[in-house]
Amino acid sequence: MRFDVFTLFPAMFAGPFDHSIIKRAREAGLVEIHIHNIRDYAAGKHKITDDMAYGGGGGMVMKPEPIFAAVESVLGEALATTPVILMSPSGRTFNQAIAKELAQHARLALICGHYEGVDERVREHLCTDAISIGDYVLTGGELPAMVIIDAVSRLVPGVLPPGVTEEDSHASGLLEYPHYTRPAEFRGWRVPDVLLSGNHAAIAKWRREQAERRTQARRASQATNS
Ligand SMILES: C[S@@+](CC[C@H](N)C(=O)[O-])C[C@H]1O[C@@H](n2cnc3c(N)ncnc32)[C@H](O)[C@@H]1O
Repeated sequence: MRFDVFTLFPAMFAGPFDHSIIKRAREAGLVEIHIHNIRDYAAGKHKITDDMAYGGGGGMVMKPEPIFAAVESVLGEALATTPVILMSPSGRTFNQAIAKELAQHARLALICGHYEGVDERVREHLCTDAISIGDYVLTGGELPAMVIIDAVSRLVPGVLPPGVTEEDSHASGLLEYPHYTRPAEFRGWRVPDVLLSGNHAAIAKWRREQAERRTQARRASQATNS
């Protein structure tokens, strides 16, 4: 899986993918993450990438020319077959099903907006999709791109041991059951006896019940909060 990220702040990507599972996936060649600076594709001495909004209003808008130039130059012929996704608070809301859908592709291009946002012609004529990571507004699309790369990468075959992602929260519609490790007792809080019993059928039943209970409790609290 190859990710091409287009951003005005490439330095923000130093760190999150240099550790743990994603680091190993990159070293194994299962995941490639290429960060491209949109400013490198801006014309003129001053390499301007944003301008005032037509119609007024505060905040700068990212210009279309450098973004089109960057994506077209990096993707080349692959543009015809690669999803080009704009990070946007008004996109479809990211979830595990979308992560799974995106993991089917060999390559993804992610465009990070900043300031007041991105000229709408980018969304209309360059992007094939727009994704929000939740109903709140961040200062830029860099963190959303990192979230998507992380969630999609762990679904790439070989990145995690077989079977791990199938049991994750949201994978089956159920939230995951609670996990415990040693010690069996910590500050007087004991691990549920069934998990120490060695009875695999009873453990599977307990886990299923816990997953259902947790899912129902979360749904009830979501209904109350909405
Ligand atoms: C300050 S935001 C712009 C918000 C825009 N004025 C609006 O109200 O929709 C700047 C950039 O951050 C990114 N962004 C902010 N919140 C996001 C979210 N929840 N999901 C995805 N991208 C987000 C987008 O790329 C956006 O263009």
